[in-house]
Amino acid sequence: MADTPQIAFSSLAVPKSGTLVLLAAAGATKNGAKSAQVQFGAVAAAADKSSGGAISRAIDAAAFKAAARSMLEIWAPPSLGVSRLLVAGLGDAAAMEPLDWQKLGGAIMGKLAGGNEKSAFVALEGPDGEGIAPGAAAELGFGAFLRAYNFDKYKTIKAPDEDAENGAPPKKVPAKLTVGVEKPAAARREFAAREAVAGGVLLARDLVNEPANMLGPKEFAEKAKALSKLGLDVSILTEKEMTKLKMAALLGVAQGSARPPRLVVMRWNGAGDKKAAPLAFVGKGVVFDSGGISIKPAGGMEDMKGDMGGAAAVTGLMHALAARKARVNAVGIIGLVENMPDGDAQRPGDIVRSMSGQTIEVINTDAEGRLVLADALWYAKQEFKPALIIDLATLTGAVMVALGKHHAGLFSNDDTIADRLTAAGLASGEPVWRLPLGKDYDKLIDSKNADMKNTGGRYAGSITAAQFLQRFVDGAPWAHLDIAGTAMGSPSTEVNRGWASGYGVRLLDRFVADNYEK
Ligand code: BES
Ligand code: MN
Ligand code: ZN
Repeated sequence: MADTPQIAFSSLAVPKSGTLVLLAAAGATKNGAKSAQVQFGAVAAAADKSSGGAISRAIDAAAFKAAARSMLEIWAPPSLGVSRLLVAGLGDAAAMEPLDWQKLGGAIMGKLAGGNEKSAFVALEGPDGEGIAPGAAAELGFGAFLRAYNFDKYKTIKAPDEDAENGAPPKKVPAKLTVGVEKPAAARREFAAREAVAGGVLLARDLVNEPANMLGPKEFAEKAKALSKLGLDVSILTEKEMTKLKMAALLGVAQGSARPPRLVVMRWNGAGDKKAAPLAFVGKGVVFDSGGISIKPAGGMEDMKGDMGGAAAVTGLMHALAARKARVNAVGIIGLVENMPDGDAQRPGDIVRSMSGQTIEVINTDAEGRLVLADALWYAKQEFKPALIIDLATLTGAVMVALGKHHAGLFSNDDTIADRLTAAGLASGEPVWRLPLGKDYDKLIDSKNADMKNTGGRYAGSITAAQFLQRFVDGAPWAHLDIAGTAMGSPSTEVNRGWASGYGVRLLDRFVADNYEK
């Protein structure tokens, strides 16, 4: 993980060194600013005055309109002491939603990268002198923190001036970002919870970005075990224990790999009633998916190091819940395997007996995620009698054909859960889109030789995969999130420029916080 900046909160007393970030809203002159194009708050107007009007002259010269997240940069502004000044545009200040503050924080951090300044101060004020809510300040800090992430641990030659787009190392971010706000203590309190979530997001990104030679099932399990320090109860099942439990579907996927599988259980009991049925989160953790004997084409196969994005999201979520001491009982279960071709590997045509007793004909060894989840889901239901089960998996290429990279596919047997996930998706900026389940789709995975087969033909590939999973939840309230498009190869956003997004952590943290912590 790259250096993460410290995010601090203070009153609106503007510092005399480092970088100063002022806000401006689009619209006519207010508060004595001389520029005719933007609206300033009191702090910005005062800074403009101290600089002898240099800021408003720069705004006019640059035709800066303070559109949302646009930036005007002034190096060494006169008479202010600071060596760099950024004016960040709000657009329509009255229309700012929490996610807009988060994106603004990301955009500011993106712009701050580079230069020699080690600290930056954001003067958070509204254009009419109204204070900015502590929650908005916390969101801004959250966005800035997420944007500062960078996976460069294997680069021994750092190139500090490369562009931060998709994978290239970003310019150095300031060590400390202070958000000046009317109620700093309240903002600090709200940020503490978001920092816990951000820690989970960064953990998930790191796990997904890590190459498979460095992160096998055992190494992943050890990273999960390390979360014990947050108060999580983490146990690890080895191959021997899984054999005893008759998890032949999961074990069949692992049998071609030199590296044995693990099943990790992470428990967090934060509810008032420690005995209340937990929420269960189950993740696909294929540390590398070569396809097995049904081997994938070479082009792009390196991306299959990220086929544990579901397990990474579950691990990141458990980090978040524990770090912010969520008032909920939750259990995270991740099936960790490597899918490899080998003399001992599973073959097309093999029939395995899953832990549930149901038999599966393996038509394609590359449809391995559902085999792993079959046993992990069944185990979750039997062992923990959860109130609901949500699984996350980079399960199908087909979900990208359907939804691209901007929504995860959502499947559920429970409308309440589906609606809550949809709402949490919109609120967190990690949206989902529901796709159907039904008997006609389910028929497509019936097999002549076993209870079911692991592929359903050319059409509706994401749906038949979900139908397969549904056969292993034993009627429990359940939702499946197909995150093949959203967890990796991520489009660049204000809060992420890397390959892995950490998708799922913010979504599910929000889902839990809004519905299960009352
Ligand atoms: N891990 C892949 C799905 C995937 C593809 C994730 C691209 C991320 C990016 C999964 O195990 C897989 O191979 N699915 C097959 C299923 C098919 C064989 C029925 C697929 O999508 O082609
Ligand atoms: Mn596969
Ligand atoms: Zn896979």
